[in-house]
Amino acid sequence: MVLHGPNLNLLGVREPQVYGGVTLETIDHELRKLADELQVELAFFQSNYEGALIDRIHQAHGAEQGILLNPAAYTHTSVALRDALAAVAQPVVEVHLTNIYAREPFRHQSLTAPVAAGLICGFGADSYLWGLRALVKLIKTEGKEGKS
Ligand code: DQA
Repeated sequence: MVLHGPNLNLLGVREPQVYGGVTLETIDHELRKLADELQVELAFFQSNYEGALIDRIHQAHGAEQGILLNPAAYTHTSVALRDALAAVAQPVVEVHLTNIYAREPFRHQSLTAPVAAGLICGFGADSYLWGLRALVKLIKTEGKEGKS
């Protein structure tokens, strides 16, 4: 499952000097192409609501094999999202378009990364593509053991 957090629906319009001109539709399209190559199926979900993201993570439990997630601003604030990720069995790969460690200090902490198998950030839309490759490899080789 590919999960996009708040304001990512505005990519392309939103702060292009920070996030570039790529739209969420383009990112999802690129992910679909890569998924075909890797022979996996993807389900996509974007929400601006913390509770809706949490509900979708709960639904993924037992239904989808892994979670590729850009928690966006909730990365830095949401204990509830972190707990939802910790509660489900699937491996999680966290991605960000920007290098959160090179930005404002309040973005330097990710509450969600410690319950993810790993974090990829700073490569624009390619963060998602590297993230999907990492997640699929993890599912195929280690499954849940990838989650530490
Ligand atoms: C982001 C980084 C977050 O700090 C920010 O709140 C976002 C996008 C990224 O992909 O670079 O909304 O997750």
